[in-house]
Amino acid sequence: MTSRRLVLSRSAALIGAASTGLLLPRFATAQGNKIRVGLMLPYTGTFAQLGVAIENGFRMAIDEQGGKLGGREIEFFKVDDESDPPKGVENANKLVQRDKVDVLIGTVHSGVQMGIQKVARDSGVLNIIPNAGVLAATGALCAPNVFRSSFTNSQPTLALGAPMVAKGHKKAVWITWKYAAGDEAFQGFRDGFLKAGGTIVKEIAVPFPNVEFQAHLTEIASLNPDAVACFFAGGGAVKFLKDYAAAGLKGKIPLYGSGFLTEGVLDAAGAAADGVVTTMHYADGLDNARNKAFRLAYAKNFKLQPDVYAVQGYDAGQLLIIGANAVKGDLSNKKALYAAMGSATIDSPRGKWKMSPSHNPIQDIYLRQVVDGENKVIGVAAKQLADSGAGCKMG
Ligand code: PHB
Repeated sequence: MTSRRLVLSRSAALIGAASTGLLLPRFATAQGNKIRVGLMLPYTGTFAQLGVAIENGFRMAIDEQGGKLGGREIEFFKVDDESDPPKGVENANKLVQRDKVDVLIGTVHSGVQMGIQKVARDSGVLNIIPNAGVLAATGALCAPNVFRSSFTNSQPTLALGAPMVAKGHKKAVWITWKYAAGDEAFQGFRDGFLKAGGTIVKEIAVPFPNVEFQAHLTEIASLNPDAVACFFAGGGAVKFLKDYAAAGLKGKIPLYGSGFLTEGVLDAAGAAADGVVTTMHYADGLDNARNKAFRLAYAKNFKLQPDVYAVQGYDAGQLLIIGANAVKGDLSNKKALYAAMGSATIDSPRGKWKMSPSHNPIQDIYLRQVVDGENKVIGVAAKQLADSGAGCKMG
């Protein structure tokens, strides 16, 4: 008797639920469901702190808007990509196939991005790149569903050569990790430096993510160039700055770099980073209200100083918010979503920027110098610089 009454009351409840729409399948109630956001970032290895800064910035942008996207709640899924390119496709598929994310935010390492790029192109899932600068992502392998909130690898270094030559530093050694980001940062450096009248006396490439710099620093000392220019980032950048000073080169051979060299590492590098001059699409000391508010809020939230990676994560969040609001949370309305994201003006701590036709930021590149533990702005090295988007055919 009791069990029969229970069954009856259950079925009555079910009928009630069906008539109010509660039992409709997932796709029919997409507006009510959570948006599934995948974060594929390095949380271990030499770029671990970059991944954390990107996630912090991304979450902060969304939290500032009430923690929703186009009115919908968010569910997060995370994968540590370890900056390991051979696992790139498999890791991206964990988010896309297994977790069925609506958008994949990732990643940092250019080689891993090539895996994401393949999955994004094959599946059509929306991908926002919050760092990795690999040229192909907004060049030959560009796609309507792939947007970048960061830079292309040659963008920051293209503007580095002219200020070096202006200082009388005409003969340079270039040193980097040997992979797409280092190779393509070199392309930018070489183009700008040669055009300004410089000569590259030696290119040194260290396998990623090795940090055995001793022999190379000995070679640099014996070559005695006017200056050294480089691309390193994260934990490897700290080690390079410290080894450069310990080898006695600091103060003797001026050190320049793609600005990543001095991003997020200033506390750890200490005096070894003092005076280093770099070019980058952001600087701690940028004198605009947006940057000041961002820096205060970030420091309060995370008890950490923000860096360019936090800014790129924040802007990835801002970009997604603009897109999601334009389609009222219905990310399946791809045409309108991509149109809104492609034409957005991002009010960034780096200054306002817009997307190029191939979906990469058009942005100012600042000349900076490390003074008192901060990346101070000492000039604008390039105004409204776009990447070439060479080989990009959308559609
Ligand atoms: C990249 O692999 O594209 C990369 C990684 C770290 C950076 C910049 C670029 O700081």
